[in-house]
Amino acid sequence: MTTDGKKTILSGIKPTGNLNIGGYLGAVKNWVELQNEYNCFYCIADLHALTIRIDPSMLRKNALELFALYIACGIDPEKNILFFQSHVSQHSELSWVLDCYTMFGELSRMTQFKDKSAKNTQNVNAGLFTYPVLMAADILLYQADLVPVGEDQRQHLEICRDIASRFNSVYGEVFTLPEAYTPKVGARIKSLTSPTQKMSKSDDDENGTINLLDNKDTVIRKFKKAVTDSQACVKFSEGKDGINNLITIYSAVTGKTFTEIENEFSGRGYGEFKLTVGEAVADMLSPIQEKYKTLISDKAQLEKIYRNGADKARYTANKTLSKVYRKVGLVSR
Ligand code: TRP
Repeated sequence: MTTDGKKTILSGIKPTGNLNIGGYLGAVKNWVELQNEYNCFYCIADLHALTIRIDPSMLRKNALELFALYIACGIDPEKNILFFQSHVSQHSELSWVLDCYTMFGELSRMTQFKDKSAKNTQNVNAGLFTYPVLMAADILLYQADLVPVGEDQRQHLEICRDIASRFNSVYGEVFTLPEAYTPKVGARIKSLTSPTQKMSKSDDDENGTINLLDNKDTVIRKFKKAVTDSQACVKFSEGKDGINNLITIYSAVTGKTFTEIENEFSGRGYGEFKLTVGEAVADMLSPIQEKYKTLISDKAQLEKIYRNGADKARYTANKTLSKVYRKVGLVSR
């Protein structure tokens, strides 16, 4: 809690691919709603992106794109602190200290580590293993009360709390214990082509994801190809993963309830439904893309914003790091 009585929120996204409507409807769109009520920090988790091999120019491009997209989506840099994780060196510094308060056994139990190392046996690097510790540093540096995360990051938030309590039990109340923030409405969007899986930045099938920068034709084409079923009935029910996903997307975009949507499309075919959803999504994206174009074409202005964000973030981060260094017994600089 800050002096103005507002709770602190922190979240971040790894710039390993393009932001898609899953990340937008499930996360970023909700962040916009929080900016007046909370003291918010949003980072681009670029250091986390290094755990996988990624072309350097691609990483830089993704990171800048994502930064501009945060703003284009309505996250106001005047009201929130927006920054690149790598610009605030305290993240890496705290991460090392926390490494020494994190057990090999508990990191070995992280399901994401197990999944990722099984999938990518060629590059099971130490960064992949200590990934949750850096994430804990991201959160604890800002004394965040709340962390909006998806289901897949819950375990990482749990370990963050465990590390923080362990540290606090030795040195006193140094860290705020963060809690998961679950938004009132947060849509879980699935892939259009494999609707049992989450729509993911790293999906190999590009028809499965709608990127925020996809143009209207691409959006419509991808929706036309979306996997459905053979019942030809727009109704949310078990076993209809594809249709359920399209209903969820349409509802998240238009604010209509599932029942309203079912009524709207009763007796109408899937073709028409897919087209309507595609158009609604394209309409949602168009103002974001407009704003994005302006932002990305003015690199100097963008730089000013992220430098300013890093300066502000550093101020808070440094307070926590100095305290930690003092508590553990390092000689003050
Ligand atoms: N690990 C998160 C993800 O892959 C991204 C992330 C990095 C994050 N640091 C964070 C999320 C801090 C919340 C808080 O989605």
